[in-house]
Amino acid sequence: MPAPATAHDKADQIAVHPFENGFGCELAGLDLSQPLTQARFETWHDAFERYSVVVIRGQHFSVAQHVAFSEWFGKLEQYEDPKDQAEGFNTIIRVSNIDKYTNAIKSLDDIGHKSFTLGTSDWHTDSSFRRIPSKASLLFAREVTPEGGDTAFASTSMAWEALPEDMQQRIEHLTVVHDFEETRRRFGLPPRPPEIRAKLPPVTHPLVTNLPDGRRALLIGMHAVRVEDMEPDASRAILDELKAFATQQQFVYRHKWRVGDLVMWDNRCTMHRAMPYALERDRRLLHRTTVAGEAAA
Ligand SMILES: [Fe+2]
Repeated sequence: MPAPATAHDKADQIAVHPFENGFGCELAGLDLSQPLTQARFETWHDAFERYSVVVIRGQHFSVAQHVAFSEWFGKLEQYEDPKDQAEGFNTIIRVSNIDKYTNAIKSLDDIGHKSFTLGTSDWHTDSSFRRIPSKASLLFAREVTPEGGDTAFASTSMAWEALPEDMQQRIEHLTVVHDFEETRRRFGLPPRPPEIRAKLPPVTHPLVTNLPDGRRALLIGMHAVRVEDMEPDASRAILDELKAFATQQQFVYRHKWRVGDLVMWDNRCTMHRAMPYALERDRRLLHRTTVAGEAAA
């Protein structure tokens, strides 16, 4: 006969509530101010692999704890610029319209802020401009806006599966150039200095990637510049067509932020975008860790 449940066992009882269309889920019963256990991690990780977006609400934890539980999922990407980091951690990036040093709302004349805002307001996959795109992002809301500022997620694996077979065949062997400079180019902003650009040169990835569980997904979005070996107009047309297809309502989950929400998503099979908000009026501060990935297969 099994032993009666102890308080500790009870703490490991996490409920997984999938969203309606099978894309995304909410985890209940997890307190991230407590150290993660193997059992809790496995439940969380399984939900992440299965539903691509995991929402955990009502959390209170420190920056150090955010880093600690993120590291269970793998090595974290690092951010070199101190103004982007939180509390000295180079593995946390501030996603915010608030200046770290003055605590005031940033001016849109700040080119870096403008580029980040424009780039993240359109559909993208975090770090797709890196040689090895990231695996996952864990974004935590510390200050939210009274209106706007939702994050919308699109499943590029569900989109791939729903594509007509002739389209799948047409695109499955294509490769795409991704470049961090694309946002600045597209919006007519000045390029970053050459020595900075040299650290993140354009990279090439397959348009259709393979996930470890056999699913396939589209790797597209804002940082995707062009399809290799294709005329610019045809290349733009196909990237735009795929983006429009993948962001249809049936593939999208839109998250309305509350303070204390942690949202984790799978960068290998999703895109996301930040919805508009009053950038020069309302404060918004989120902290993100990013789990490094393996080369796109
Ligand atoms: Fe992003």
